[in-house]
Amino acid sequence: MDRKKIVVLGTGGTIAGVSVQISDNLGYAAAQLGVHELLQTLPGLAQFPREVLTEQVAQIDSKDMDFSIWQRILRRCIHWLERDDIQGLVLTHGTDTLEETAYFLQSVLSPTKPVVLTCAMRPASSIGADGPQNLMDALAVAAHPGARGVVAVCAGTIHGARDVQKVHTWRLDAFSSGDVGPIGQVVQGTLYLSRNWPKSSVVLPKPDIKKIAALASWPRVEIVVSYAGASGATIDALVSPEVAHRIGAAPVRGLIVAATGNGSMHHELEAALSRAQAAGVRVVRATRCCHGQVAYATEQAIPDSQGLSAVKARVAMILELITQPKDSRLGKMTHNEAED
Ligand code: SIN
Repeated sequence: MDRKKIVVLGTGGTIAGVSVQISDNLGYAAAQLGVHELLQTLPGLAQFPREVLTEQVAQIDSKDMDFSIWQRILRRCIHWLERDDIQGLVLTHGTDTLEETAYFLQSVLSPTKPVVLTCAMRPASSIGADGPQNLMDALAVAAHPGARGVVAVCAGTIHGARDVQKVHTWRLDAFSSGDVGPIGQVVQGTLYLSRNWPKSSVVLPKPDIKKIAALASWPRVEIVVSYAGASGATIDALVSPEVAHRIGAAPVRGLIVAATGNGSMHHELEAALSRAQAAGVRVVRATRCCHGQVAYATEQAIPDSQGLSAVKARVAMILELITQPKDSRLGKMTHNEAED
């Protein structure tokens, strides 16, 4: 056996979920089994050519993901990645916010070792559970020579952190990398790669990473959507210091608008967003379309998200507000996940 090890960090999700009936793939409780249990019952693990360690970092349904859990995950990733005997990490995670955690970790860590998020669409108790195969595939990716960066593995497909998006509510193959396409496929332990591994062009300095890992309060960035009949009322309320004070919330520092089509938005919403900008709130436009990136020929007053979905543009803006409170990089970057 190779002396290098893989660490599997458990955070909960459907992959660790249990239902009363083995035929029930919908009415189950997520985050019931520990990561150690998931590994203990994994068929094929005995033949896996690496020692596998486990650590339970969280135990949640990922709809409830929050900044403190991200910080815990980040600190444990840093801890394990620094060790020479660790080849890579696997993170078991719920599917619902997996893409946000993946993008957060890639943006902060830009790891030179692989950090592989995996998941399941059916609970571990299901007669047709998909978690064990996804976990074996994720281990194969983490053990692959040359693998690097944060990726997601689901239904035999390897997605980059920047592009991966959950696109289906219950299908086993629930994720897509959109126009860019996946990094590759994993078939019975063998990888077939079609793109290079993720590599960030913006690498955060160590003090920034430490700051993010220890931060007590995070900048408040909200997402709004443009739709038929949208008004500026929600934006005005979000930006109002009086409203924030009354409800005991932090003032809004940034807004992401999930715009219609190629970045257009209702004129009343746009007017309210301009007022927000004038009040010092950062505003970025993404699209509510699930494929394609906003493409303008000329610079706009509200910059676009450079192809990031609204939820990832929010992560990018939060990190920017933490590390560059006075200057906005979003809108100037061309692609923050370059390839080798
Ligand atoms: C979750 O995101 O934790 C629950 C749903 C899932 O994992 O598919």
